[in-house]
Amino acid sequence: NYRLVASQLRQALGDEADALANAANFIAVLYNALDYVNWLGLYLARGDELVLGPFQGLAAVTRIAMGKGVCGVAAAARKTQRVPDVHAFPGHIACDIASRSEIVVPLIVGGELAAVLDVDSPSLDRFSADDQAGLERLCDRFASLVAAGNRAGGA
Ligand code: SME
Repeated sequence: NYRLVASQLRQALGDEADALANAANFIAVLYNALDYVNWLGLYLARGDELVLGPFQGLAAVTRIAMGKGVCGVAAAARKTQRVPDVHAFPGHIACDIASRSEIVVPLIVGGELAAVLDVDSPSLDRFSADDQAGLERLCDRFASLVAAGNRAGGA
């Protein structure tokens, strides 16, 4: 399934060089490919904060301090946070009350934290280790396309 998403992503990005346009399509492709997901989007690293970027779902909090919430912890640690039950995560920031589980994957571009991908599900324990591996691969792939200015595949 994640391999299919990777090919949809290549198609959606084409040879476009604009990072914002590519980020918007990255999010749209992922959101529509995944089942049982109610919110999916990017928070962009801006100094000591994360600022809301392209997303699909309900309107969300615009700024998150590094280290706060699931997104801020993932950003500060530069490490994926897979949360089976958001109610059990201390400091979780609720955007959509329907959200029950969440995964946040950091995007590193050129050695720097560029953003985190945040995915919320209304199902408890929605995200498996396989989802984590698939999403991390897609984020790495997308980050290298962005770093390369996506001259059609970053080749
Ligand atoms: N739950 C996130 C906040 C962002 S919303 O889910 C869109 C967090 O705790 O960082």
